[in-house]
Amino acid sequence: MSNSQREQAAALPIVVLISGNGSNLQAIIDAVQRDRLPVQIRAVISNRSNAYGLKRAHTAGIPTAVVDHQAFSSRAEYEASLQELIDLYAPALVVLAGYMRILGDAFVNHYQGRMLNIHPSLLPAFPGLNTHQRALDAAVTEHGASIHFVTNELDGGPVVVQAAVPLFADDDAETVAQRVRIQEHIIYPLAIRWIAEGRLTTRGDQVLFDQQPLRQPIQYPPTLTTC
Ligand code: GAR
Repeated sequence: MSNSQREQAAALPIVVLISGNGSNLQAIIDAVQRDRLPVQIRAVISNRSNAYGLKRAHTAGIPTAVVDHQAFSSRAEYEASLQELIDLYAPALVVLAGYMRILGDAFVNHYQGRMLNIHPSLLPAFPGLNTHQRALDAAVTEHGASIHFVTNELDGGPVVVQAAVPLFADDDAETVAQRVRIQEHIIYPLAIRWIAEGRLTTRGDQVLFDQQPLRQPIQYPPTLTTC
């Protein structure tokens, strides 16, 4: 077996779901190409045909597909069709990267313990939409992004890793989004790497990191402790 064949064999197969720009998808692609993230992105699937992330995938030579939710008469039919397509690629992990649809129980249960989402807040604060504006309105001093396993509770699954950013008096939602996005592009590839390397696993409802129950989200960057 050649080196590249060996790497391919060890790579974690993933499918990435997007709805829009795909900058987090790009961060994952870059991590595979630049930082040897041991992942094989088997497909990128969007619910919107005009999602810019599809172009990013195409440029990287990754198969793409569109499953347009508007073409189905019910959410159940849409999700059954999406699931069927995803499963053709036999991913070990489904990565929601700016995928802006709420998912039903059957779909979520099917991928239990093998579906990650990125959310632009320090969960459990600000689940749902417009998180940056809501953080500004609430006058919190710290905001950020979270990577979590997807469960039936919207943005409520166990958080694996979080990155915090400060908020400043002259911020608006766009400046905050830019600051948070820089962190998102670090922590999403990081969490996926942990899964690919077998460090991050699940056992039933429990998340394990290095075989130990993960009781608190990992904070990025890690705080340095001195003794
Ligand atoms: C990201 O900020 C992600 O946290 C957010 O959508 C953006 C997608 O950006 N996800 C959610 O709000 C999920 N509820 P991208 O398309 O450039 O990766």
